[in-house]
Amino acid sequence: MADNDKIFIFDTTLRDGEQSPGASMTLEEKLQVAELLDDMGVDIIEAGFPIASNGDFEAVSEIAKRSKRSVIAGLARAIHADIDRAGEAVRHAERGRIHTFVSTSPIHLEHQMKKSEGEVLDIITDTVARARNLVEDVEWSGMDATRTPIDYLCRCVEAAIRAGATTINLPDTVGYATPDEYKAMFEAIRNRVPDADKAIFSVHCHDDLGLAVANSLAGVAGGARQIECTINGLGERAGNAALEEIVMAIRTRSDVLPYACGVDPVFLTRASKLVSAVSGFPVQFNKAIVGKNAFAHESGIHQDGMLKNAETYEIMRPEDVGVKATSLVMGKHSGRHAFRQKLEELGYEIGGNAFEDAFRRFKELADRKKHVYDEDIDTLVENEIATQGEHIRVIALTVIAGTGGPQKAILTMDVDGRHETRECSGDGPVDATFNAIKAIVPHEANLSLYQVHAVTEGTDAQAEVSVRLEWDGRMATGKGADTDTLVASARAYVSALNRLIARQNRPDHQELKAV
Ligand code: KIV
Ligand code: ZN
Repeated sequence: MADNDKIFIFDTTLRDGEQSPGASMTLEEKLQVAELLDDMGVDIIEAGFPIASNGDFEAVSEIAKRSKRSVIAGLARAIHADIDRAGEAVRHAERGRIHTFVSTSPIHLEHQMKKSEGEVLDIITDTVARARNLVEDVEWSGMDATRTPIDYLCRCVEAAIRAGATTINLPDTVGYATPDEYKAMFEAIRNRVPDADKAIFSVHCHDDLGLAVANSLAGVAGGARQIECTINGLGERAGNAALEEIVMAIRTRSDVLPYACGVDPVFLTRASKLVSAVSGFPVQFNKAIVGKNAFAHESGIHQDGMLKNAETYEIMRPEDVGVKATSLVMGKHSGRHAFRQKLEELGYEIGGNAFEDAFRRFKELADRKKHVYDEDIDTLVENEIATQGEHIRVIALTVIAGTGGPQKAILTMDVDGRHETRECSGDGPVDATFNAIKAIVPHEANLSLYQVHAVTEGTDAQAEVSVRLEWDGRMATGKGADTDTLVASARAYVSALNRLIARQNRPDHQELKAV
C-alpha cells in the first residue's frame, strides 16, 4: 500500500467528546483514556482546550508529558492568548500539535463573529503563523466549512497553508452535509488550492443526521487522509463520528476502502467501556461494534446459521474487537485469580486498590445473587472505575417504604473521612434517600435525570441507576449499581454529586466564543 493511503486517526474524545453536556472527566480519568488511546495506536490525541480552564491546561500538559507514540494536540481559537496557551501545554510532548480554528461560513461571520471575509483571512494568516512559530505541527480548521461557499473556502485554505498549516481540517460542524457533497468539497479544494499537496486534509463530522461515519469515509474518498473521531461517538449534540466504526469499516471492507490504519481493533471494546464509565454515558445496546448486542444473534434462523458457519451472519468476529469468548462462570466460590482472569476476558485492566475494591464488591454480589453474569461484572467494574477517588461515599442505607408512609431513609455517608448519619422523610423512598444526601452535603443541584434499568434478567438482578444533576450551569452524570435499587440510586446520586463538586472547584471553564 502506498504511503499516501495511510489514514491518520485523530481522536477527540477528550476535547469534542468531553464537550458533551454532562460528560466531563477528571484529570485521572483523562490520563487513563489517553494512555489507552496511545497504546491502541491512535495517531493524534486531541487532549483538550488548554485556555478553557486550568484543569484543561493541566490535562493537556500531563498527557503531553506522558505520551509515547501519539502526537498530542491542544485546541486554540484564533486568538493569540489561546495559541500561546496551547503551545505551552503541548511543549513537553515528543510530538506536539496546535490545532487552531476559526469560522468561515457566512452565517457564523455575520451573526457570531461580526467580521468580514477579508478580516477573517487576515486572522487566519496571523494566527497560523503565530502557531507555526511555536510548533512545527499546526492544524487549521475552518469551522462550519460545509456551509461555506467554495470560492471563499479555497481562499481560507490557501491562506492557512501559506502561513504554515500542515493539516487542513474541514469540519461538518453542524452535521448538515451528505456524503456526495462532502467528497466533492475535498476534491474541489484539493484541485483548486495552490500547494494543496503540502498539507494533509482532514475530516471532522458531527452526527446530527446520522451521517458522520459515512461522511468521514466520503471525505477520505475525496482525498482526506486524517479522520477526526471519538470513542463511542461521544461529542457535541448527536456526537462525532465513532472511532470504532471507522476503524472496523476500513478493516472489514478493505476491498473497497483500501487504506492503512494503525489502530489495533482489539482495544476497541476496552476503550468503549472505559469511556462509557468515565463519561457516565451508557453505550446503547444496538450500537455498532461495541454495543452489548452487536454480536448477539437472537432469531432462530440466525442462530441456526451461526451454528453451521459463523460467516452466515457475522461480518466481523467478536474477538477482533476485543470481545473474548467467555469461558469462566463466576459465583461465590470464585477467587481472586478467577476474578482477574474474568476481567481480562472482558477487556478490563485494573490493578491495585481498584482491583481489590472491585473484588470485594464482586464477593458481596455473589453472596446475594445466584448467578453472576458477565453483564454484572461489567457494571460492577465500570462503577468501580467511575467512583475511584471520590470524596463522598455511601456507607449504609436503611429505608422504610410501603403504603403506610411516611417513607423514611436513614443514611450514613463518608465525607472526606468523617462518617455522618441523617434520617429524612420524603415523597417515596427515592426522594427520602436523596433528601438524606442533601441533609449531609447541603447543595442546590437540580435532578434532571433519574433512570433505572435491570442489568440482567430475574428478580435478583442488579439495578443500574443513572442520575444527572445540574448546578449553576454545569451538569454531571453518575451511575450506581446494586441488587437493591435504592442503594444503587444513592450511589448514582452521590457519584454525580462528586463530579459536580469537582467541576465546581475547577477555575472557571470559559465559554467557547468564536472570534
Ligand atoms: O465541529 C467543529 O467544527 C469543531 C472544531 C473546533 C474543529 O469541533
Ligand atoms: Zn466538532
